[in-house]
Amino acid sequence: MSQLRFDDWDDAPAATQPAPAATPARQASPAPLPAQAGAAAPLAGTTPAAAPRLPAGGISLAPINPEDKRVVNGKADINQLAPFKYPWAWEFFLNANRNHWTPLEISMAQDVHDYNHKLTPAERHVFENVLSYLTTSDILAMRNIGLAVMEKMSAPELQIYQARQVYEEALHTWTYQHCIESLGLDQKEIYNRYRVVPEIHGKIALANRRLERVMRSDFDLTDRDNLHEFALSYLFFAGIFEGCWFYNGFTPIFALQRRGLMKGTAEQLQYIMRDEVLHCAFGIRVVRQLLQEENLTLDPVQVKALWEEAEAAESAYAGYILREPILGYNADLHRDQFRFIANRRARQLGLAEPFPGAENVLPWLDEQANMRKEKNFFETRVTEYQTGGALAWD
Ligand SMILES: [Fe+2]
Ligand SMILES: [Fe+2]
Repeated sequence: MSQLRFDDWDDAPAATQPAPAATPARQASPAPLPAQAGAAAPLAGTTPAAAPRLPAGGISLAPINPEDKRVVNGKADINQLAPFKYPWAWEFFLNANRNHWTPLEISMAQDVHDYNHKLTPAERHVFENVLSYLTTSDILAMRNIGLAVMEKMSAPELQIYQARQVYEEALHTWTYQHCIESLGLDQKEIYNRYRVVPEIHGKIALANRRLERVMRSDFDLTDRDNLHEFALSYLFFAGIFEGCWFYNGFTPIFALQRRGLMKGTAEQLQYIMRDEVLHCAFGIRVVRQLLQEENLTLDPVQVKALWEEAEAAESAYAGYILREPILGYNADLHRDQFRFIANRRARQLGLAEPFPGAENVLPWLDEQANMRKEKNFFETRVTEYQTGGALAWD
């Protein structure tokens, strides 16, 4: 198979590039006729100093004031990246690009053997249902950030990171599909499971309801009620859907990994988890910024209801996937850890802890999320990846 080259995608005509000095003046010049478009240096001799300053289309030539940028409803030019108002958003983008992998780089060979010869029926039940939930969830996560959130942002540095996030959610979906294919699971059955298992469907339906409310094309964020709804929805997706349900959702498979089982899948999930940690942190930061800029206070009754319905859905899900405990993991541990992580997300959001007194019953989970390459943990990786090894997650 021939390799794609990046320069295969460059359709710029190399021999007929206009002289760089002509570029400023082209703004004020009539568009060249198609027959003239390829002519060499049509504005040769025009200097920037002599170029008219009148903008095409009446657009102001004044540089933007970064203080005019806002998370939503901003008036600053969305096409001008810098100066930044939110430099931390750009840092998120740079950090995200240091965690790059594809699922094809991680060997799944041992997992095929483990799945067929080592897992008990209860462990297979856990494994398949976690994958089934995750595949559907990441499609939802992609639609949320790409279709409901990103288009409402009015600062380009926020959108740039979210564009990367959209790609990462698609990469995660590919990763689950790769695991499902590698193990020879029945795709029709696995992908359909969220529609027929009420305990999986409950979590997906809850997220879908949040998404549908804010994804409408006529959703006007100058309306305070809508703004509140949007903030709650973003809080739900960043703080709960990604920050709790994903973060804590990988743990049943990490529990297998800790016993030397399904290590390829688990390593794939560790790479995904690194992305999700950033998605959660970024989303929480945006929500806090939004609340501050808009002088908006979340309704504590609605926030409380959000945590409670998330806990109820997660508890039912844990009861189903872990209807039989597996060695080192059970439904109560899963529920307790959800509450502990939920408290952490609430603190990060500047909100009261929803589950006071919840304990860190799985202290190894954070270690699993923050695992570093230099600890030689990723022994199953087929190829070394240059940027993946350079991460520090403290
Ligand atoms: Fe994801
Ligand atoms: Fe995500």
